[in-house]
Amino acid sequence: MYIGVWIVAICVMRQRIFRVLGYEVNSRMCGNRPAEFAYPRIVGGTVSSKGDWPWQVLILQDGQLLCGGVLVEEQYIVTAAHCLSDPQEAIQLFTFHLGAHKSDASDSSAVQVKIQSVECHPDYDDHSLAFDVCLLKLRDPITFTNYIQPVCFPETGTSVGVGQTLTVTGWGETLGTGPNDFLNEARVPVVDITLCKRWYREERISIPASHFCAGYREGGIDSCYGDSGGPLVMKESSEQSHSSACVLRGITSFGMECAEEERPGVYMSISYVLPWIYETAPELVAINPTSSTNEEHSASGIYDPTRTNQVTTSAANALPNSLSSLIACGFWCLRVKS
Ligand code: ARG
Repeated sequence: MYIGVWIVAICVMRQRIFRVLGYEVNSRMCGNRPAEFAYPRIVGGTVSSKGDWPWQVLILQDGQLLCGGVLVEEQYIVTAAHCLSDPQEAIQLFTFHLGAHKSDASDSSAVQVKIQSVECHPDYDDHSLAFDVCLLKLRDPITFTNYIQPVCFPETGTSVGVGQTLTVTGWGETLGTGPNDFLNEARVPVVDITLCKRWYREERISIPASHFCAGYREGGIDSCYGDSGGPLVMKESSEQSHSSACVLRGITSFGMECAEEERPGVYMSISYVLPWIYETAPELVAINPTSSTNEEHSASGIYDPTRTNQVTTSAANALPNSLSSLIACGFWCLRVKS
């Protein structure tokens, strides 16, 4: 009973305690899936378990699937620029849903959010799809739940290597390989860029420097129409901490048809546009201590690079107020206790 009271007190006070100890701690989780173990996994299948991809955003137009998106923070979503041909009109006409598993967002966990503003990359080219990315700011910060969580950003200067396998998710076309009324997932390895460029040259399509390819030479597994704007993530762990979290590496952008031989999916690289993201949304710099633009923060040594699922923020009120806060709290309580 007394221990319980102490734990609650430490949780409430942790920010002050750590500040006194010289740390500006406001720990926040990203890339975690609180609901992951609540449902059985479909082994070898393509339909995801509810709650497995809690950063997935569903964008509908007149109730129909338009694109995917990704929750990166309590007030920010990223998506593909080609999904929002007229960004101002898009935020009026389209609906944006978080926490959805069904493609019509009819789940009880789904929440519709309003968009306050949109910034698309200034170098976006609607012909080549170079810099195919927009940043959407929500009107109100979202409350995280088991089904709504932000994904992690990669550490600045890191990229994925050929052969590393990532997971792409979306409600897009399945070409008859399965239902798309529930969120689907597929694992795709990074393809050598020279090889990918060579394959696409046959179609007279060039791969912009902002993009990379992922998929299979023989085809068969790929993202497809309607998946655009959605996430391509990798579970990344650090050797020292044994912790792992999902990191956003790409945004589904384009491909030549879908799942064709020697035509892998082409993804917008998040690492490539991280400087623009941080410049456009300085709030995101605060929660990502590895961002190079955040010199003060990275110099402070607060961030523990051995914990890839940790992000820290110096904004005193930036702690999510729901479950993720509890998880962070639990972690810090354990740390304090041990
Ligand atoms: N451009 C498509 C969309 O708007 C995504 C296509 C991805 N294609 C592929 N073969 N991976 O949804």
